[in-house]
Amino acid sequence: MNRPSNSTPLTLNVNGATHFVSADADTPLLYLLRNDLALNGPKFGCGLGECGACTVLLDGMPTRSCVTTARVAQGREITTLEGLGTRTALHPVQRAFIEEQAAQCGYCLNGMIMTAKALLDRDPHPSVETIRCELSRNLCRCGTHVEIVRAVQRAAELLAVCVAEREGERA
Ligand code: FES
Ligand code: FES
Repeated sequence: MNRPSNSTPLTLNVNGATHFVSADADTPLLYLLRNDLALNGPKFGCGLGECGACTVLLDGMPTRSCVTTARVAQGREITTLEGLGTRTALHPVQRAFIEEQAAQCGYCLNGMIMTAKALLDRDPHPSVETIRCELSRNLCRCGTHVEIVRAVQRAAELLAVCVAEREGERA
């Protein structure tokens, strides 16, 4: 696809790597991640900032990439689902969502996982009320909310084990 004439060079820091793209600075970050960088973890749902399917972390904060421009994302640390873990070494939050069978169609899970990751970084032992509140703006049309909340609780347990193991290795 030809870029419009107002394309400008942009530098994006994604998952610890620097990427150079040429695009209109008002292009939604989601488009650049999916179309230019082939990072398809973030999903296109509503495109209006309402559903959360496109969530990424910007400097650690859950952010809707469909309504965040490249201009705003430039120079900040962008983390997508692909930046959490690998197929062979899943991040504990990803592992927990699989173990708790939190997906039906799975379309909302990118947003659920990224939002849960940010929550657990901030609050390693959230209450059920806190988890529900934090995820309340992420929509799941399949209605797997009970499993999703359980997955976040499980993720907190797995992360606590990782922390204990790391501290054991350092002792
Ligand atoms: S696709 Fe971004 S919030 Fe719905
Ligand atoms: S599992 Fe289908 S939208 Fe959430």
